Amino acid sequence: MRAGRRALLAAAGASVAGCGARAQPGDAARNPPPGLWQIARERGCTFGAAVQADLLASDPLYAQAYEREAGLLVPEYEGKWAAVQPVEGQFDFRGLDAVVQWGRARGRATRGHCLVWHNAMPDWLTSALGEGRGRAEALLEAHIAAVLTQTRAVIRDWDVVNEAVANPPGSDVPQTTPGEMRDTPWLRALGPTYVDTAFRIARRVDPTLRLTLNDYGVEEDTPAAEEKRRRLLALVRRLIRARVPVDAVGLQAHLQMDKPFNPSLFGTFVRALRAEGVAVLVTELDIREGRQIEDDYPRRDRLVAERAHAFVSAAIDAGVRSFITWGLVDKYSWTVTDKDVRRGDDRHHRGLPLDWEYNRKQMWRAMARAFRGEAPDPDGWFR
Ligand code: XIL
Repeated sequence: MRAGRRALLAAAGASVAGCGARAQPGDAARNPPPGLWQIARERGCTFGAAVQADLLASDPLYAQAYEREAGLLVPEYEGKWAAVQPVEGQFDFRGLDAVVQWGRARGRATRGHCLVWHNAMPDWLTSALGEGRGRAEALLEAHIAAVLTQTRAVIRDWDVVNEAVANPPGSDVPQTTPGEMRDTPWLRALGPTYVDTAFRIARRVDPTLRLTLNDYGVEEDTPAAEEKRRRLLALVRRLIRARVPVDAVGLQAHLQMDKPFNPSLFGTFVRALRAEGVAVLVTELDIREGRQIEDDYPRRDRLVAERAHAFVSAAIDAGVRSFITWGLVDKYSWTVTDKDVRRGDDRHHRGLPLDWEYNRKQMWRAMARAFRGEAPDPDGWFR
């Protein structure tokens, strides 16, 4: 049974690679099995991953992994304000360009992340936003115009506003001030319609660009996520009624094993968003393990894989066609390197498709199965 399935998968690999001929010894090296992006494409889905330009240049195995698996790239840092306009009026597109050009040389598109966000703001910007409404509007206009003009020919999809909704009580980091919009320097400078303004500027500068509103904390079955879903949906509805040009909503999907996931609840939410006429994208998928998980790797990886399978399957069922993981290789994940999200003990999260040695692990196979429309392995292990 198992051997039969392996033969079937090998045959599927051969046809995806377009060779059609019977497998010969040594073919595996010349015709590697299809990458996740190719498997996703067979289902009409896009699969890609956030990438770091310096690692593409310095770590050949990292670059190979992206070449093999990622059909779409997102700069993990290089498109953020602090990277692109570190000094007022002085734009630096070197990091962003490195990602875009690496992708173009391999036929992979890059999506932009992100024009307006309360993090990765240079200090000069934070203080300038306190200098009055006119100044804040001028900075917003100048930044969006400069970035979109620069990237117009090569990036056709941008996260325009990132994380605009406030975290409700009960969230990991709840907002302490009242209001459904996140309390940020942008909100303080321009009020809640800073979101409207950003999208309108973006549409005016590049009328055919896909404009995305990106947020997190809305995927799981907790009271805080339920409230944040309500807030995000309310924001999207307000924007659509006000004819603000929002084309897509990105759900970051930084999932946590400590929080339950309910596929039908999540599916209902995705459908409610899509009913407003926006596409729904999964933009930053990764999975944090529970702190209590101290088990061996195969078992830990299996729990993560089960969650990945359930999530991707539910998203596809509800009409999501674009999936991006926030990184590809565990050792470079922000869930390992970022002090606020890494595990509090001496272990590391293993929430991306490839392990520390760049090998495909159970999460990879779980996503491949979900993209193929297959159920989890009958015995629960994603071999
Ligand atoms: C993270 C990066 O992965 C880190 O390397 C960086 O230090 C902080 O930002 N939501 C987002 C991403 O939209 O931009 C964040 O990326 C992760 C959370």
